[in-house]
Order: sequence, then C-alpha cells, then structure tokens
Amino acid sequence: MDILVVGGAGYIGSHMVKSLLAADHAVTTFDNLSKGYRDAVVGGKFIEGDLASREQLDRLFETCAFDAVMHFASFIEVGESVRAPARYYRNNFSNTQNLLDAMIEHEVGHFIFSSTAAIFGEPRYTPIDEDHPRQPINPYGKSKYMVEQMLEDYDRAYGLRSVSLRYFNAAGADIDGELGERHVPETHLIPLVLQAASGRREAISVFGADYDTPDGTCVRDYIHVQDLCDAHLLALEHLRASGNSSQFNLGNGQGFSVRQVIDRAREVTGREISMNAERRRDGDPAVLVADAEKARRELGWQPGVSSLDNIIETAWNWERSFFLQ
Ligand code: UFG
Repeated sequence: MDILVVGGAGYIGSHMVKSLLAADHAVTTFDNLSKGYRDAVVGGKFIEGDLASREQLDRLFETCAFDAVMHFASFIEVGESVRAPARYYRNNFSNTQNLLDAMIEHEVGHFIFSSTAAIFGEPRYTPIDEDHPRQPINPYGKSKYMVEQMLEDYDRAYGLRSVSLRYFNAAGADIDGELGERHVPETHLIPLVLQAASGRREAISVFGADYDTPDGTCVRDYIHVQDLCDAHLLALEHLRASGNSSQFNLGNGQGFSVRQVIDRAREVTGREISMNAERRRDGDPAVLVADAEKARRELGWQPGVSSLDNIIETAWNWERSFFLQ
C-alpha cells in the first residue's frame, strides 16, 4: 500500500516508517522538522512541510493516491499544554482538521490516529478499557480527545474510516539500534533514568513517593514502540478488511512503579543511578494501566517485545550508541 506518515521524523513516527518499509509498503513522510529529525527517516520519500498549510497539503495529496494516512505529528508535553494551550489546540486539533479536510477532498478514506491515555483523565478504575469515561484534565489530552470526536463526525458525514490508537507509556527503542527517543527537552521517565545511568545527568528526580501505590511512586504501563508499530500495521489491515472506525487502548496490561523502573535500570545497565526525592508533579494520576483486551481480540495484537527489561535494554543501547559516541 501507499502510506503517508505525517510526523514520520519523530520518535514513534520514525519507527513506524521503518516498520512499514519492512512490511513492503511504499512510504511518504511529511514532517515540518520542528521536533523531528531528517536523519531519523530511514527510507521512503521525505517531504518537508507543515500541516498548517492547506496549500502544501493539497500539493502533497496530488503527488500520490495514498491508501491510508498515519498521523504522529503532535505536541506531547502535558505541562506545556497547560501553560500554552493555544499551541496545543492549534497543532494537535486545528492542523489535524486541515489534514482530514485535505484527505476528504482528495478521496483518501483511511486514517490512523495517535491518541493517548491522557484522554481518560483521572482514572475511575484500572485497568482502563475503552468504555472508561473520557474526561481529559489538560489541554494535551483534550486536544487529542477533540480529534477523536471529530473523527466520529467525519465518519458519519464523509465516510472517513479511522482507527484511534490510545498509547499508554510509549518507551524503548529500535531493536537494531538504528532509532530511538530524541525529545528536547526530554520529560519521559525511562530516557531520563538512562541519562542518569550514562552520566549525562546527575540523578533522576522521583516525583512523589506518597501515592496510594505499593511503594508510594506512580505506576505506569510501559509499551515498546515496536509493539505500537505492530498495532498500526494491524489497524491498517483492519481498515482494509472491515472498514469500520474504532478505538483501541494500547498497553502491556502490567504496571511498574517509578521505583521499580529505576531498580530494573540499575540491573540492566550495571550502573549506579542516583535518585532525588521531589514533590509530586501536577496532573500525574497514581496508576495508569491499560486493558488492551479489545486490541488483542479485534486486531489480533499481541505485544511481543514489551517486557520492562527489553524496553530498558533497547533504550540503553540507544542512549549509549547515539548520545555517547
Ligand atoms: N517521572 C519521574 N521523574 C521524571 C519523569 C517522570 O518521577 O523525571 C514519573 C512521572 O511523575 C510519572 C512517571 O514517571 O509518574 C511516568 O512519567 P512520563 O513523563 O514518562 O509519562 P506520563 O505517565 O506522564 O505520560 C503521559 C501520558 C501519555 C502521554 C504523555 C505525554 O500518560 O499518554 O504523558 O508525554 F503521551
């Protein structure tokens, strides 16, 4: 198939481009390089461009009759979204609407959207299934949920078929060591812990040790980026086969606390990792764990490489080979 990957120069998008090429799809990456890196796009065609420009989008869709679009281009920092909501509604919502409108005009009918566990807000229960109430508590989560709602309406009115994949905590790096996480600034736990292990950072800050969890630190469901890519390939097949729009929660179904992650990282790396106890970070729920049964049942998805050790090993490999060369 001919697949357009929007945001294919970013963390998850770049892994997706590689997976699609390995599965013999033809890939075009469209990215404005505001957060991504040209050298992270390992193959296919690359077009530098911006979703804010409807003109550029029209030109893009004239280059090729794409079978489907995957959309990874969004801002992801919860704290920043609270301070600068306009950036989030503009980029994550309005620009996505530009993309969808261009797709409809050019008769591209299949869309796979990178959604997030942040659409659920403060969990009422865990593990979180697809029926859990969706009450996002920050502009990041709201902007993503607004897109999910727009997709429902666009399906009804224009016949645009979509799959929204709600990632829990995406982590890990390419198994071959070619790609990995390069966020600036980095805010995610695992890469920061590994920076502390490699010496690029003095210590890891632990945000809160007084949560209602077994060791007092927050529990998250870490899912390997490669397993997320596999879910996208299956979502593509689902759209081609049944054509029904749907939403899926993607996680491992198993939670690990911040302290457990640090302990495993000490084992895997064999390095000292200093910790600083700090106060809670605003907006962090105590526990976020996915019930991914629907994805298993309906997509046949089976996370295969998401053990915590494998996540840490692949991310550690990347930290050493990319940043410490
Ligand atoms: N944490 C620390 N110290 C750090 C960084 C993080 O203790 O230096 C803790 C956090 O407080 C949290 C856990 O580690 O308890 C995981 O934090 P991350 O920042 O790695 O990820 P989040 O759980 O905040 O992820 C959330 C949503 C995702 C969303 C992401 C946006 O669950 O859906 O924010 O980046 F995509």
